[in-house]
Amino acid sequence: MSEAFDPKVTPWLVDDVDFPNNAPTDVVLKFLLRYAVLAPSTHNTQPWRFIVADDTVLVHKDESRWLLVADPDQRELLISIGCAIENLLVAAEHFGYSGQVEYVPEPSEAGLVARVRIREGGERSASRSGDLFEAIPRRQTSHDRCEPRPVPPEAVERIKACCDDPAVTLALHDNPDTIRNADALVIGADATLFADPYYRDELAHWIGQGVFGASWLMAKLGQFALSYLHAGAGTAMRHDSEAMISSPVFGLLASQHDDPETWLRVGRIFERIYLTATALGLAMQPMTQLIEVPEVRAQLAPMIGAGMLAQQPFRLGYAQPHPHHTPRRPLEEVIAEPQMGDRTSVAGN
Ligand SMILES: Cc1cc2nc3c(=O)[nH]c(=O)nc-3n(C[C@H](O)[C@H](O)[C@H](O)COP(=O)(O)O)c2cc1C
Repeated sequence: MSEAFDPKVTPWLVDDVDFPNNAPTDVVLKFLLRYAVLAPSTHNTQPWRFIVADDTVLVHKDESRWLLVADPDQRELLISIGCAIENLLVAAEHFGYSGQVEYVPEPSEAGLVARVRIREGGERSASRSGDLFEAIPRRQTSHDRCEPRPVPPEAVERIKACCDDPAVTLALHDNPDTIRNADALVIGADATLFADPYYRDELAHWIGQGVFGASWLMAKLGQFALSYLHAGAGTAMRHDSEAMISSPVFGLLASQHDDPETWLRVGRIFERIYLTATALGLAMQPMTQLIEVPEVRAQLAPMIGAGMLAQQPFRLGYAQPHPHHTPRRPLEEVIAEPQMGDRTSVAGN
């Protein structure tokens, strides 16, 4: 099926020429959200819901899409939502708006996690370069081995410059010993996770929903089978390891704190890195298994600063892009109408 006629893929066909000039604010915000939903998310769960109220987007988590086994703390869920918030801000800046984010420390019963106020004008963030907007509909997660060529120092510097939040740090490693060490940890984490039938069932459930798209589904059929037959685990693990060992750069986002606001902040930087990598022609893949096993997460400590906690590992390098995007839920499914009492005013950043 061509992308143009697959309703799950058409969200990728967003075009900036369709921007609603001179339209009411809520129409503008709903248009900007078309870019937010192209963000990456853990297992492509897209665990977000948005309410547009006046000049503010109320960002909610959707717990029906929470990975209870792989992500018991909702760390990955909130990093995913942070990615969507960053896309919203990048798109807003592209169209001459600016955004102010207020994180909600105690999510309400309805799952409100952040308010993003969008207003006309304002400064472009210095750590977001102009080419990030074009990267939003081109960005994708790579699952392939990298070509044997290094990432040039200028590209590494641009990736480093993405991390401008004092709550988040970024470590980038290109030393072959560190890459080998990361690979050994990936093998260990995968072995632990794939040995857990609840983990396999959860993964199989989401693959069964078609979240990784048809071609990805074909590629992962062995992995799907493992849920029921406990077959294919070796193939999946070998695939992850070969991808990791081929990568010229291993990156790690880390933080001092381990709470919902930090995870949203990590997500924003993570997506800025994804978009910057895309703009630079680099392929990227998160390696979240390293965090999902607590003993493995602890072993990442020497690769980050003292007193820091690893939050989001990823690998970077050059690889051929995939011909297809993964599916997205249509925008109508993730936008809800405001209710009486939804507070929209934004208190801070
Ligand atoms: C918090 C988070 C964790 C992720 N972890 C992994 C991972 O461990 N391995 C992987 O291959 N992809 C991982 N991904 C990428 C998602 O699988 C991917 O974003 C999703 O399938 C949508 O595909 P796309 O990024 O190509 O649009 C992660 C994404 C996020 C936001």
